[in-house]
Amino acid sequence: MKVQWSSDLETGVGIIDDQHRKLVDRISDFVDAVAENNNEDIEETVNYLIGYTIQHFGAEELIMIRHGYVDFKNHRDEHTRFIKMVYDAKKSLISDNLSIQQIENLRDELVDWAINHIKVMDKDIAKHIKI
Ligand SMILES: [Fe+2]
Repeated sequence: MKVQWSSDLETGVGIIDDQHRKLVDRISDFVDAVAENNNEDIEETVNYLIGYTIQHFGAEELIMIRHGYVDFKNHRDEHTRFIKMVYDAKKSLISDNLSIQQIENLRDELVDWAINHIKVMDKDIAKHIKI
């Protein structure tokens, strides 16, 4: 599995796209760590991913609030759902003895969510606000 930035992820809002590029880089580091089956790297890249995701969601939510974006509440709920998902993944990675298959499933879940979220919900922000 290879995750990299591509133009179909562009929302058209510069500040959000810049952060998404960094987010995709962090996801890609995590995906690489899983591919190498390196537990230390997996834990480190998940930590970076969580940190950056929380920071990025905060910035995105501020943009939505400032512009009175109509679907803010649903969007924020989705962010919260993802943070809970990452929290569960992190907890399992620390305390459960996961098989490679289980780790790959967690990876797929996180990657799918992030890519779909950018393509659908984040692009919708750009459609409704002008920056
Ligand atoms: Fe978002």
